[in-house]
Amino acid sequence: MQLTFVLGLFLFLFAPFASGAAPAQMRALLMTGYGSSDVLRLDRIPVPAPAAGEVRIRVHAASINPIDWKIRSGLLQKSFPVSLPYIPSRDVAGTIDAVGPNVTRWKAGDDVIALLDGGGLAEYVNAPAESVALKPARLSFEAAAGIPTASLAAWRTLIGNADIKPGQRVLIHGGAGGVGSTAVQLAHWRGAHVIATASARNHEYLKAIGADEVIDYRTTRFEEVAKNVDVVLDTVGGDTLQRSPAVLREGGTLLSIVARLPAQACSERKLHCPDPSTATQEQPGEELTKLAQLFDSGALKISIEAEFPLEQAAKALELSETERARGKIIVRVID
Ligand SMILES: NC(=O)c1ccc[n+]([C@@H]2O[C@H](COP(=O)([O-])OP(=O)(O)OC[C@H]3O[C@@H](n4cnc5c(N)ncnc54)[C@H](OP(=O)(O)O)[C@@H]3O)[C@@H](O)[C@H]2O)c1
Repeated sequence: MQLTFVLGLFLFLFAPFASGAAPAQMRALLMTGYGSSDVLRLDRIPVPAPAAGEVRIRVHAASINPIDWKIRSGLLQKSFPVSLPYIPSRDVAGTIDAVGPNVTRWKAGDDVIALLDGGGLAEYVNAPAESVALKPARLSFEAAAGIPTASLAAWRTLIGNADIKPGQRVLIHGGAGGVGSTAVQLAHWRGAHVIATASARNHEYLKAIGADEVIDYRTTRFEEVAKNVDVVLDTVGGDTLQRSPAVLREGGTLLSIVARLPAQACSERKLHCPDPSTATQEQPGEELTKLAQLFDSGALKISIEAEFPLEQAAKALELSETERARGKIIVRVID
């Protein structure tokens, strides 16, 4: 009798709270080494149980970011090591199906988005409770999956670091990409004068989402047309970042999510060059909640370049690797 009571209490305290029986196994895209798409294979693995402080999400859709193909190719082996087998994708939208011990904020049945450390290309994934936010009701799961990594990068830099103000001149390099698309809309929402660089095929798109001026970086050196800029957000790096101080007014802000300029290049022109990783003290879930409200209000939208079923997720990473996608690349996990 006593043993039954103790066992019952143990299960009550430590077993995850589930909405229904999850299957024992799930489909997942496993990365088994470094290289091209042939290191990725669809397989069946056990469904993970959520640990303390985690929720388990039944994944409807995941999104692909450049970091996914950079990890796969081995480019980030030193700076961003992962243990193999690794499941790509850091962004999901889905429905919570179980909560681990010590989670009070979430319950089974909640439709959510989450920022992960990987694991998104699987039918179920665990996420820390503080990295989760309610899915914007207005968005499909596919569109909502496009939010976390890219929109957080735009939010943390333009709002967290630069706190852009109405009337400021903001130049966004790579305006048509996943990060750039949200950045253009955020800067427009804040009332800034938005200048964006992109190839000509993306100019109408950029004007439609809030750019006041567009520069074709393939035919025009941006520093010849963009002058007296208050804030630059660089999502391209390399030569684009090196040439960016020239467009900023003295005391302007240079933000890059790709690389850092040497301190001297910033101090020479009295520029403010903050580190994006110091933009916020907030948990990802709190920031995602603010972003979700902007998506629900219609101030922000997700543009989808392409959608793939989970069976073809390797192609989604290949498309990201072309560095030509407009907006986000989505993988439908539950088709
Ligand atoms: N540190 C962070 O937290 C963080 C977070 C997210 C992303 N990132 C990094 O930021 C970079 C951008 O990410 P993303 O998700 O926005 O990438 P993405 O979606 O793959 O960007 C693709 C876009 O880049 C544009 N592009 C390519 N070369 C360009 C150039 N020279 N000038 C202007 N636009 C150019 C393309 O437009 P066109 O076809 O018109 O050229 C395309 O629309 C990646 O390196 C990524 O790893 C960092």
